[in-house]
Amino acid sequence: MMDNHTLTLVVADAALIAPGLRRVHLRAADGARLPPAAPGAHITLSLPGADGARPLRNSYTLVSADPEHGYELIVRRADRSRGGSRHIHEALAPGDVIDATVPHNLFALHSQAKKHLLIGGGIGITPLLAFVARLRETGAPFELHQIASADEIGVFAALLAPRAGEQVHIHGGRTSLDLPALLAAQPLGTHVYTCGPAGLMDHVEAAAAGLGWPSSHVHREDFGAAGGEPFVLRLAASDIEIAVAGDQTMLEAIEAAGIDTPSLCRGGACGVCILPVRQGEPEHRDHFLSEAERAQGCHVMPCVSRSRSALLVLDI
Ligand code: FES
Repeated sequence: MMDNHTLTLVVADAALIAPGLRRVHLRAADGARLPPAAPGAHITLSLPGADGARPLRNSYTLVSADPEHGYELIVRRADRSRGGSRHIHEALAPGDVIDATVPHNLFALHSQAKKHLLIGGGIGITPLLAFVARLRETGAPFELHQIASADEIGVFAALLAPRAGEQVHIHGGRTSLDLPALLAAQPLGTHVYTCGPAGLMDHVEAAAAGLGWPSSHVHREDFGAAGGEPFVLRLAASDIEIAVAGDQTMLEAIEAAGIDTPSLCRGGACGVCILPVRQGEPEHRDHFLSEAERAQGCHVMPCVSRSRSALLVLDI
C-alpha cells in the first residue's frame, strides 16, 4: 500500500475469456496482504489515456477479493474506449504495475433483507457474481436474473456455471423477462439490486416504484457514461476556463487541468465530488441529488453530469 487510500498493484494474470471480455487478476506489488472488500466493492485504476494522453481513472467492480490471493476484475472493451478499457485489452500484461484506490463499496448487500433479488444486464454481472458467492456461503435467500444478448448467452452461462442452481436464470434479451411480474412475486422485505445498462436499471427502478417498493429497497450500480456534447467550464474563483470534450467527464477535465478535487465512486452515487454551480444549466446524470436539488440547479456531480448550456460556471 502506498498510503491509506492508494494501492500499488501488479498484474498477476490477464486473459481474454470471451470476445471483448478480459479477466484481470491483481496482487499487491510488494506481496503484502490487500485490504479486504465486501461483495459489490470497486476499485479505481489509474490507466494511461489513449495515445499517451492524460491518465484516466476508471472504476471496476471486484468480482472477487481475497487479501491473500488478490483482486479479480472482468473488463469489457468499450466500443468507444477513451483509452482505459482499450489499454486493459491491448496492452496490459502480467508484471505491469498499476496504481489503484483502496476498495470502496456503494453497492453492498443489505443484511436486513428478507431476500435478495439480483438483476444484471451484460457486464453488469460482475458485482452479482460476488453477491452470489457470498449469498451461497451465508445461505440467504436470493434469485439472480441475468439478461444477455443472444450472442453472449453462452458467455454469461459459462461465467455463472460455477454458481449454477435453481435460483440462477439467464434471459436472452430484456423482453424475455417480465420485470413487473418478477417484482410483484417477491416476498415483503426483498431488496432488489441491479447493474447493467442505464435503460435496464431505470426500468427496474420504475417497475419497483410502480409497485410501491420503498426506494431504500432498490439498489443500482453504474459507472456513468461520459459521452455528450462538448462544453466550456469556467471555474469562477480561480478564473480558469476548461474545455470539456464530448468523450470526457467534467471531473476528468478538471483533473487534467491540474486541479485536485475530491471523488470516490466516479459513478454519480456517493456525492463526494459535489460542486457548486454559479451559472448555466447542468444536465444531471447522478443518483445522488434529489429532484428538488436538481431543479434548483445549485450543485452538480462532475463525475457523471454534464451541461445543457454551452458554458457552465462553477463556484470553485
Ligand atoms: S465521485 Fe461519487 S458522485 Fe461523483
